[in-house]
Amino acid sequence: MDLGLTGRVYIISGGTRGLGFAVAQALTAEGARVVISGRDVDSLAAAVESLGEARATGVEADNADPASAQRLVNAALERWQRLDGALVNGGGPPLGSVLEIPDEAWRLSFESVFLSAVRVSRVIAENLSEGGSMAFVLSTSAQNPIPGLDISNGLRPGLAMLTKTLASQLGDRGIRVNALLPGRITTERTGYFDAGTAPSRAAQIPLGRAGKPCEFGRAAAFVLSPAASYISGAAIPVDGGASA
Ligand SMILES: NC(=O)c1ccc[n+]([C@@H]2O[C@H](COP(=O)([O-])OP(=O)(O)OC[C@H]3O[C@@H](n4cnc5c(N)ncnc54)[C@H](OP(=O)(O)O)[C@@H]3O)[C@@H](O)[C@H]2O)c1
Repeated sequence: MDLGLTGRVYIISGGTRGLGFAVAQALTAEGARVVISGRDVDSLAAAVESLGEARATGVEADNADPASAQRLVNAALERWQRLDGALVNGGGPPLGSVLEIPDEAWRLSFESVFLSAVRVSRVIAENLSEGGSMAFVLSTSAQNPIPGLDISNGLRPGLAMLTKTLASQLGDRGIRVNALLPGRITTERTGYFDAGTAPSRAAQIPLGRAGKPCEFGRAAAFVLSPAASYISGAAIPVDGGASA
């Protein structure tokens, strides 16, 4: 199947490692070009080199900075004079229990996880035209609480509803909006959990193992591509069957 990605241009916020980078790999392998962002300059340079400078541009940008989204759009338009879609991604919230997490941690996570995604999607939406596609990287916590990740449990369901809302508002412009719900996919972030207190959930995954970033990357590349032309407003688990 031809995904129709050749020559298309996608923004991937938080695209230097983990899930975002895997999506960048899958998209560029299918002939797309990507603008990836991240805060660490060295990771950014290494990611661009690995993807190939002909197909990737890096922008040092923090999702928490209100100016970042426009800088990413500008980078795509300056280099390739087009924008076809975006993966709205970034770092996740810290571990913790709702009974213990202080207000300040909620505020910080609201800014970095929730408001930054709203902001990025707003700017991207302004710059997409017919055939455009946006996908939010959320979590299975959008549908089922994950023990020990209570900030995620609080914020992700709201972002899933926002995805659905945006899909309704942008549909008449021919723009699709979806949410991807990773379960447990082995990245640096899951290493952080293993070092923390979150229980390992691998035993509860029907496929009996954690996912690989490339498995998430392929799913996301399909959803972003024109081949998924009638999929919008969906929340798609990529979790080995773990969601109840
Ligand atoms: N992996 C999983 O199993 C899993 C499961 C459920 C949900 N998720 C969610 O999926 C997202 C990605 O997870 P991951 O496992 O790929 O994490 P990761 O391995 O830690 O990678 C995060 C990426 O986002 C970038 N990033 C982090 N904070 C950023 C910021 N403020 N502004 C711009 N870029 C930022 C990082 O680069 P810099 O640090 O250099 O900025 C890196 O490129 C997270 O929101 C996570 O909660 C992951």
